[in-house]
Amino acid sequence: MVVVLGIESTAHTFGIGIVSDEPRILADSRFNYTPEKGGIHPREAAESFIRSGPSVLKEALDRAGLSLRSIDAVAVALGPGLGPCLRVGATTARALASYYRKPLVPVNHAVAHIEIGKMLTGARDPLVVYISGGNTVITAKYGGRYRVFGETLDIALGNFMDTLVRELGIAPPYVIEGVHALDRCSEGGRYIDLPYVVKGQDTSYSGLLTAALRAVRNGARVEDVCFSAREIAYSSLVEVAERGIAQLGKSEILLVGGVAASRYLVEKFRVLAEHRGLNLYVTPPKYAVDNGVMIAWTGVLLFKHGVTVDPEKAVVRQRWRLDSVDIYW
Ligand code: FE2
Repeated sequence: MVVVLGIESTAHTFGIGIVSDEPRILADSRFNYTPEKGGIHPREAAESFIRSGPSVLKEALDRAGLSLRSIDAVAVALGPGLGPCLRVGATTARALASYYRKPLVPVNHAVAHIEIGKMLTGARDPLVVYISGGNTVITAKYGGRYRVFGETLDIALGNFMDTLVRELGIAPPYVIEGVHALDRCSEGGRYIDLPYVVKGQDTSYSGLLTAALRAVRNGARVEDVCFSAREIAYSSLVEVAERGIAQLGKSEILLVGGVAASRYLVEKFRVLAEHRGLNLYVTPPKYAVDNGVMIAWTGVLLFKHGVTVDPEKAVVRQRWRLDSVDIYW
């Protein structure tokens, strides 16, 4: 049996997961940074990770009933993400790997979102819709890599949703009982005209954000603006996903990333799946958001294929692209 400890620290979560290759989740500990107001402040987040890191690590090892000596490898998300946050995870991983003489496994955070989704749902060869606060990507495995078949040209879908409700003064908190503030404030809304942008296979949300905020300033009802902005943002994503399905001839769709927890968006994809006779797989909300388990599990896959890195060479890569990573499984 192979047991890997995985460290996640790319954005607002410092997480440590311990996973075996059976596969079994042996531990899942997390600390979530929540800014007092506004968006994520990378340096503040990193400092909070440094403070809480030791207790997160201890909790994970206690839960698993393991010591660091009995772990086979240490995996860490080296990117993509926010520099100061990434460096906390990388430093921790390098120190643990060096001190305990364990192999160090470099994990791409985007690949990890996909792999935990596949492992937990049983999806085999899906078109993957990866949607989170930092990413909006349509991807599928082809020729040994996850190729990108569409992405946002500017801000990510989750960033768009969070910024809109924050600017309107109705969040944080962004998500209450699995329902995003944008879904809440859309209730009873009617459609108004806002820009719908799809360029080729790519989506765009920054123009929509600006137009939505301007509409409210010009007197439009908040529920109408929220409803319309949401419909447009979600529909443009479903449109490019549908085209990806048609182009690639896939029979499965897998939703991964924090926004995959949005019930209303899942509903839209359910309609698409029924319409086209596809199997829809949705990563369980607990593991759709950032966590250490997904890093540990991808670490297991990489480690079993011999992918490790010298601690001295394990540097963070803030813009590490999904489609530059070789996938051996
Ligand atoms: Fe993420």
